[in-house]
Amino acid sequence: MEDQERLVSTNSDEAEEAFETSLRPKSLNEFIGQSKVKENLRIFLEAAKGREEPCEHVLLYGPPGLGKTTLAHVIGNEMNANIRVTSGPALERVGDLAAILTNLEEGDVLFIDEIHRMNRSIEEVLYPAMEDYALDIIIGKGPTARTLRLDLKRFTLIGATTKMSLLSAPLRDRFGSIYHLNFYGVDEMASIIKRSAGILNVALGDEPARIIASRSRRTPRVGNRLLKRVRDYAQVRADGTLSPETVDLALIGLEIDPRGLDESDRRILRAMIEKFGGGPVGLTTIAASTAEDQSTLEEVIEPFLLQEGLIDRTPRGRVATYLAYKHLGLEPPERQTPLL
Ligand SMILES: Nc1ncnc2c1ncn2[C@@H]1O[C@H](COP(=O)(O)OP(=O)(O)OP(=O)(O)O)[C@@H](O)[C@H]1O
Ligand SMILES: [Mg+2]
Repeated sequence: MEDQERLVSTNSDEAEEAFETSLRPKSLNEFIGQSKVKENLRIFLEAAKGREEPCEHVLLYGPPGLGKTTLAHVIGNEMNANIRVTSGPALERVGDLAAILTNLEEGDVLFIDEIHRMNRSIEEVLYPAMEDYALDIIIGKGPTARTLRLDLKRFTLIGATTKMSLLSAPLRDRFGSIYHLNFYGVDEMASIIKRSAGILNVALGDEPARIIASRSRRTPRVGNRLLKRVRDYAQVRADGTLSPETVDLALIGLEIDPRGLDESDRRILRAMIEKFGGGPVGLTTIAASTAEDQSTLEEVIEPFLLQEGLIDRTPRGRVATYLAYKHLGLEPPERQTPLL
């Protein structure tokens, strides 16, 4: 299935970005959940403000749709800083990054999304920029080449990545703090969805908010998207009111089951069980046998199924858990014991 069509897909396309931006919390107080990260960030921001210095470089990582971009903007707002936004793949030549760096003002925030996709030669330009606020330019070629060092204004780099493992160690080490965003609890998801409903002017009670929350893959992006679809459904098929019954029917129509799994998730689980006896089986093999895109499988589907306890990671590959069999209405093999 095309990713754009996948309702619970955690990627967003351009058309959706305006919708997302309108729902984006602007301050730390508006940002729901991730309490540990927020607590640490508060101290970190307070300390930098007290010293009247730009704050140290920050790296945010975690699965798609959990709030990395949102948090980067929140940090910028809390620092009263201008934010410049770019991304790893957008920086094609060293000159692209050099131009951005030399235009930064004191205290500006530079946000580099998908920082793991930056090319190595560009990454090397970042090292002195991050460490010494300096840009090394090489003039000339061969034995007569020399380096000219330009001073940069003191800025804060915020990097975001869904794939920490692809980040080089020298780059990772240059961040003053690294924050991991985790999947949200159902209560937090319900608060996020209610907040979004408020912004969208949709009346949403506690119960229907919880129904949407529990089926949102613990991911704000998915929750907001489901809210929008449920609202459309209520408008067209019911009287516009988001009653628990209407919300339930809308989600059934979207083929999202009570755990928030969609057709692709179930297809993966079923393949693991029916074609590979429940595993262990490698991700590449699963991807090949289900025609699922490998990176979607790695970045979106697997983390969620792991988090839900439907699959397990073993040294020899992934295995379907007792819960997965039960969820699909299949008989678990004898060797499987219930998870406590
Ligand atoms: N803690 C939160 N409270 C309220 N809304 C949130 C929160 N986190 C994320 N959102 C909402 O979820 C949507 C997706 O968040 P965001 O774009 O920041 O995710 P991301 O981690 O940058 O994803 P990607 O890896 O795909 O870039 C945004 O519209 C934002 O409004
Ligand atoms: Mg983002």
